[in-house]
Amino acid sequence: MDATATEPRYACRRCGRRLSRRKSGGEDDDAFVCPNGDATVSVVDGIPRFPVPDDSHETLFDRLAPIYESPFWFDPLYRFVGGPGAPRDDRELVVEMLELENTNVADGDAPTVLDVACGTGRIARTVAADAAVVGIDIAAGMLERATRYAARNGLDGIAFAQMSADELWFDADAFDRGTCCWALHLLPDPDVVLEEIGRVLRSGGVFVGTTLVEDYVLELLPVRATAKGVLDVEPFDATDLRQRLRAAGFSSVEFDRRGAALFFRARRE
Ligand SMILES: C[S@@+](CC[C@H](N)C(=O)[O-])C[C@H]1O[C@@H](n2cnc3c(N)ncnc32)[C@H](O)[C@@H]1O
Ligand SMILES: [Zn+2]
Repeated sequence: MDATATEPRYACRRCGRRLSRRKSGGEDDDAFVCPNGDATVSVVDGIPRFPVPDDSHETLFDRLAPIYESPFWFDPLYRFVGGPGAPRDDRELVVEMLELENTNVADGDAPTVLDVACGTGRIARTVAADAAVVGIDIAAGMLERATRYAARNGLDGIAFAQMSADELWFDADAFDRGTCCWALHLLPDPDVVLEEIGRVLRSGGVFVGTTLVEDYVLELLPVRATAKGVLDVEPFDATDLRQRLRAAGFSSVEFDRRGAALFFRARRE
């Protein structure tokens, strides 16, 4: 996939074959289909809608979508959990940790990056300057914003799909890089998600993310109870997360903790 290609290569979860785009009969017919007839994935408002479980996070983040990138949500929360040592902008650190310049792609090709639980595309848009990015998220409301903001920024090396992090419709080894920012602590089964990300990353590919750990403000019981009650946050124990990453096939795990925010990088074996 080059940096101007916007159509990712989706793979059927049943038979593994590449899904192809069907656009024959107008908008109602727009879909990705399995050549074996196993799956038809409708494309609505330009966003492929893969099957997602009924999930309270979808509803919660659909409601948050309009304010998520406003001055009232992400930034104040980030400063609160990251504390005074957090980088001014988390995206700069994530991009630096991804080492996109070291992907060894062929001349003229851009590295491929999967952004899992991309939300409104904050990270995906930043990475899209140097890579071909696919962002997936469970919440349609977040994706509607993501599509709109990317178009407003004139980014065409970026695509979004509604998909659950625990069932990625991509081939094994499909991506050079993976990210999952501010989301692992929300997922009911992070081990399955880590395994899925490991599967779609090529060997040697780098996975970078941020998540919340039981430290700093998240050591305080009232803060922890509010985070659980309002956002369903389950912060990690950092040692436990290291083991989970290793169990999912990652090595060279590095952590950079800022307050309760843990920036991590790991390499797919
Ligand atoms: C705090 S936001 C982070 C968004 C983005 N990564 C960022 O850094 O701004 C968490 C995102 O996780 C998404 N999410 C929650 N459960 C998910 C799942 N099972 N699969 C995919 N996305 C999920 C939510 O819809 C939400 O957009
Ligand atoms: Zn199939």
